[in-house]
Amino acid sequence: MSTASKRILSGVQPSGTLHIGNYFGMMKPALEMQQPHTCFYFIADYHALTQIPEPQQLRDRVHSVAVDFLACGLDPAKTVFFRQSDVPQVQELTWILGCLMPMGLLERCHSFKDKTARGIAPNVGLFNYPALMAADILLYKANGVPVGKDQKQHLEVTRDIAIRFNNQYGDILTVPEPMIREEVAVVPGTDGQKMSKSYGNTIEIFGTEKGMRKKIMRIVTDSTPVESPKDPSACNLFALYKLMATPEEIETLRGMYLAGGMGYGTAKQMLFEKYWDYFRAARERREEILKNPDYIEQVLQDGAARARAVADATLREVRRAVGLR
Ligand code: ADP
Ligand code: TRP
Repeated sequence: MSTASKRILSGVQPSGTLHIGNYFGMMKPALEMQQPHTCFYFIADYHALTQIPEPQQLRDRVHSVAVDFLACGLDPAKTVFFRQSDVPQVQELTWILGCLMPMGLLERCHSFKDKTARGIAPNVGLFNYPALMAADILLYKANGVPVGKDQKQHLEVTRDIAIRFNNQYGDILTVPEPMIREEVAVVPGTDGQKMSKSYGNTIEIFGTEKGMRKKIMRIVTDSTPVESPKDPSACNLFALYKLMATPEEIETLRGMYLAGGMGYGTAKQMLFEKYWDYFRAARERREEILKNPDYIEQVLQDGAARARAVADATLREVRRAVGLR
């Protein structure tokens, strides 16, 4: 995709507290696109229903994702930020697209296959998850969709269905490009595996000082003795430090690893201080935002109104094209 200003869209499921894997893998790149592009970012609460959360838990998580995104630098003056379910038009498009989708296309999707393989009886919502995601993207005529690698297949389904629709009904939908940053390494968790809510190895963006210090001090390392030189490239502590430190700071720590005589406890202490400092401004902004719950709702409502205007226009074209009134 060219670098000229495009319409960028992405969604995040409100499935738990955001961690620094989410931040460096998804939020930071998405936020950096705010300036040159028109961005639509939304909280995918319809998608979250496929896991049947407690109603209050769902509301709390939507709220918490909204607060965290705003604190991390989402600018509602530049970006259309909204709650998916505030634009129910997306459900009508899901139906229309669903009627063009072969069952086999959805049956092949990992989101569905993985659950069935694990013996979980999937609900129809989970089966239809990629159709809703395609509608999310096509309703806003997005050109580019920044996502993690795990979402690539859903983007292929979206492109496939947009092409089918256009072939059948005329050139109405925009065929989107996935924007997958291959170079974004997987952020490791405290146990060295990929950081993920499902593995219980996360460092939250906005954890408490005491809690996060404890988690960082417990990061799993190898058993190289204090006096021996250590390999920074094989160390998850170092990988985390690199995400947040300046080039000079990274070189200093690299030197300490290679020289020997440094215990991992020292590196953990440095990592904690770096982490705490890195998110300091966002943490302070978050405290301010939390004092004003009306502001958060206002941002989401304004975003929804702007999103709805685009959604209505697309849906009018689509309805006319397929023969609905
Ligand atoms: P989790 O694995 O904790 O459930 P999600 O699947 O909700 O996280 O991911 C939300 C977004 O954050 C996705 O775009 C995903 O690619 C990104 N992401 C999640 N974990 C990591 C990680 N450890 N490293 C890089 N990106 C990540
Ligand atoms: N399925 C995405 C995830 O789990 C969330 C999502 C829903 C999304 N709709 C989208 C992402 C549309 C990009 C575009 O991460």
